[in-house]
Amino acid sequence: VDYPFKIHLRGIIDLLSHHLYSGPQVFLRELLQNGVDAIRARQQLEPGHAGEIAVEVIEPRGRGRPALAFVDDGIGLTDEEIHRFLSTIGESSKRGDGAGAGAAWERPVDFLGQFGIGLLSCFIVCDEIVVLTRSARRPEAPTIEWRGRPDGTYSVKTLDQSIAPGTQVYLTCKTGHEEFFTPEHVRESAARYGGLLPCPVRVAAGGDTRTVNEEGAPWRRRFESERERTEGLLEYGRNLFGIDFFDAVPLRSESCRLDGVAFVLPFAPSPAARQSHRVYLKDMLVSENAEGLLPDWAFFVRCVVNTEALRPTASRDAFVDDEALGDAREALGEQLRAYLLGLSSGDPRRLRRLIALHSLTIKALALHDDEFYRLFVDWLDFETSHGTMTLGEYRRRNDVVRFVPDLDRFRQIARVALAQGVCVINAAYTYDAELLARLPSVIEGARIELVEPSVLAQGFEDPTLDERDEAFELVRLADEVLAPYQCAVELKKFFPEGLPALYSTDPDAGLYRSLDEAKEVSNPLWSSVLEHLAGPSAGPHARLFLNYLNPMIRRMARVRDPALLRRTVEMLYIQSLLLGHQPLNTRELTLLNEGLIGLIEWGLAAQGGGHD
Ligand SMILES: Nc1ncnc2c1ncn2[C@@H]1O[C@H](COP(=O)(O)OP(=O)(O)OP(=O)(O)O)[C@@H](O)[C@H]1O
Ligand SMILES: [Mg+2]
Repeated sequence: VDYPFKIHLRGIIDLLSHHLYSGPQVFLRELLQNGVDAIRARQQLEPGHAGEIAVEVIEPRGRGRPALAFVDDGIGLTDEEIHRFLSTIGESSKRGDGAGAGAAWERPVDFLGQFGIGLLSCFIVCDEIVVLTRSARRPEAPTIEWRGRPDGTYSVKTLDQSIAPGTQVYLTCKTGHEEFFTPEHVRESAARYGGLLPCPVRVAAGGDTRTVNEEGAPWRRRFESERERTEGLLEYGRNLFGIDFFDAVPLRSESCRLDGVAFVLPFAPSPAARQSHRVYLKDMLVSENAEGLLPDWAFFVRCVVNTEALRPTASRDAFVDDEALGDAREALGEQLRAYLLGLSSGDPRRLRRLIALHSLTIKALALHDDEFYRLFVDWLDFETSHGTMTLGEYRRRNDVVRFVPDLDRFRQIARVALAQGVCVINAAYTYDAELLARLPSVIEGARIELVEPSVLAQGFEDPTLDERDEAFELVRLADEVLAPYQCAVELKKFFPEGLPALYSTDPDAGLYRSLDEAKEVSNPLWSSVLEHLAGPSAGPHARLFLNYLNPMIRRMARVRDPALLRRTVEMLYIQSLLLGHQPLNTRELTLLNEGLIGLIEWGLAAQGGGHD
């Protein structure tokens, strides 16, 4: 036998009213939303109808409780509609699914409501919802009073007196929720949720009536000039977020039906920090910290956006992550790009300041977008061996863009490069190496070169035949001493003179060095595997350039004591490894220790200290 599910009404109402929403304050938003929808529905029947919402805070007299009246001049409800929509949980007149709600409710795009549960949120703050309503459909429609209670019962009666067409909702505060019925709270809350609504929302409290949405959306206001508009928007941003923004960018996309403003942060936020954006749906606030609305690279802005096209979640404080959200994200990204591109032609100084503030974002964006890359790459700052400069400046002075993608290596090379008059870029910072590597594929005719010491060495001068003769013994011995370290020795003349030797590896040498290190710490089985990996030893994979312009090297060439020369070469080798920030392996560490001790002993002996 089939049975229908039974429903425990009180439990369902409790669940929907207390557990779906973020807090008690949302009841006001839900009432506003229903009022706006009702006005929009009435405008379907009477296109000229302006519509207005009036909220009245009824302060308690004597031992009475605070209460709230919420009045709209929307479409109102007929007797039949009261039973069908107002009193049926999960039923809504706003779905336009042909359920026969009537012509006024046919266009669901107009409405904010869709779930048929919003009104229940009032039960968080009161024990009874009283609704007086009169349908605007027929002049002779009666005024009907509806009372709903959280136990799932309701009563309906027709009243004799007649109210203006529309709906009035009365709530009496439940003990413990008085704070939501104070004039300040109601005013503040109505302004927060309804500040952009097109029909006036008036709040009356203590004899004082104020329209909370007089200003409307600031980005839709008319301004005398672009400049005034920017000033106006910046002031709005300052009031809203308490930040003096760098710039304000109006946003608008017809296809995604959204508009708003993006504020450029006046400081560089951490890339991991997500900016929270303020998002309105059909002019009502949905979220003050919406995520996923902007592309990841846009972490330098905070937005206020109104959209017509996104779908809210049931709690109506976030959006469903669907295709429409993806489209909106793309459209907003496009607008921000257009803004940055516009600056590059219209206000380059401002652009430079913005780039300085947000270089990481801009680099990330340029990596994925050729057009953007072309426009911005020359504005980006890079550290070079000759100081910091923009890539544009660098390219004006150099035909080839030379860069080192590693900080330690840059330090080693920069000294030599500077002395040689070669300008190299330190591309060790985030995105820099990838950006420069893309240069030739994006900018026609651009040339790049990954700088290694061996590349610089191509410009080193060869010694003369005589000099070669003088240093013959030194080079031969050094070659022999360093052979076990897979390092060959070459005599050259280069600047700076103060640098006695320069250690340089082949591109693959890094791999050999780390394989060597790995072999040291692994067991024999592993060692043979690693041996295999490294392949047959292809001879020396590193080079030590001895600088014959350096006085110490010249002196070494004259030393005839093989033991002393051996030690000196070893120490020179270790020193140039350290300068190149190469990690030392165990053998090299031992060499360093023995070498130091040896030199000390030799020095003492030379002083005539002798042995004990
Ligand atoms: N101020 C009002 N004027 C006219 N009809 C109203 C009003 N408030 C509520 N209703 C009717 O009661 C129904 C239920 O309202 P409720 O807020 O619970 O759901 P909803 O607005 O349809 O959807 P949601 O749960 O998304 O708010 C509405 O669909 C509408 O038909
Ligand atoms: Mg609703």
